[in-house]
Amino acid sequence: MAQAGTSFRAACGVQITDADYRRFRARLEELSGILLGEDKKYLVASRLSRLMEDYGMSSLGELVERLSLPAEQELRTRVIEAMTTNETSWFRDGYPFEILAAVILPEWQSRGIRRPRIWSAACSTGQEPYSISMVVSEYLERHPGAFEEVDILATDIDGRALDVAREARYDELSIQRGLSQQRLSRFFVREGRTWRVQDTVRRRVAFRRMNLQAGAVTHRFEAVFCRNVLIYFAPETKRRILQRIAGAMRPGGYLFPGASESISQYSDAFEMVRTRHGIHYRLR
Ligand SMILES: C[S@@+](CC[C@H](N)C(=O)[O-])C[C@H]1O[C@@H](n2cnc3c(N)ncnc32)[C@H](O)[C@@H]1O
Repeated sequence: MAQAGTSFRAACGVQITDADYRRFRARLEELSGILLGEDKKYLVASRLSRLMEDYGMSSLGELVERLSLPAEQELRTRVIEAMTTNETSWFRDGYPFEILAAVILPEWQSRGIRRPRIWSAACSTGQEPYSISMVVSEYLERHPGAFEEVDILATDIDGRALDVAREARYDELSIQRGLSQQRLSRFFVREGRTWRVQDTVRRRVAFRRMNLQAGAVTHRFEAVFCRNVLIYFAPETKRRILQRIAGAMRPGGYLFPGASESISQYSDAFEMVRTRHGIHYRLR
């Protein structure tokens, strides 16, 4: 794609001036917390071209204007959904699920917590909360009656990703990303060319649309997975969100950020815990 001077016209026809890009970037951050790089016009054009075509718009300036209109809630939702990155996989990074199985669930059992709650705070298409639920099923099989139940709340800002998660049906490509053959045959039911997560694993997970910047949770959690989402936010937003998360956790609760996300400089509410499996955090 060619980029000249202060204006950019993508191959798809979307026109973006520097000024409109800056306004769009600020508006997207207000709406979702997502802070785009200084010059990601090509990304914006490729992610929004289809939507702008649907709405009959050819310049980003027009889109920015319409985003401010009270009646354009659906447009705001669609823009957020188009701009999120939903990359995920089963048992991503491995170690959080190993720590859950080997350290955290045994600790809760020995403390007599009968119904622990886990929050998957940017769950995308469901692989993370269902991976957690599979670990719980495996634990309950080894330790029958250890818990009355483990409740998993899974939230995301992206309604389309949540639709996929609720449907719990995955194609060959997504199944190949991180699932062992043993877990596939144990926790999935084949339906034609797709695999559906078994009821026992699914029933434990409740999905809800929620913006981490604004939404509130009604329960306190023993553990929170907030992985590979803080990277999209500015430092101040990370601080605010980590404060909200700390407020939604029980004392001594565990927090898993993404494998490459360090939270120490944004929050002193948590202490780092090192195990032989990897690093996670604990609410002080
Ligand atoms: C890269 S995925 C990470 C999924 C999963 N946690 C993992 O690590 O595999 C990031 C997710 O964060 C969600 N997200 C982005 N901004 C958000 C916000 N302000 N509130 C809630 N979710 C958000 C996106 O919709 C996307 O599904």
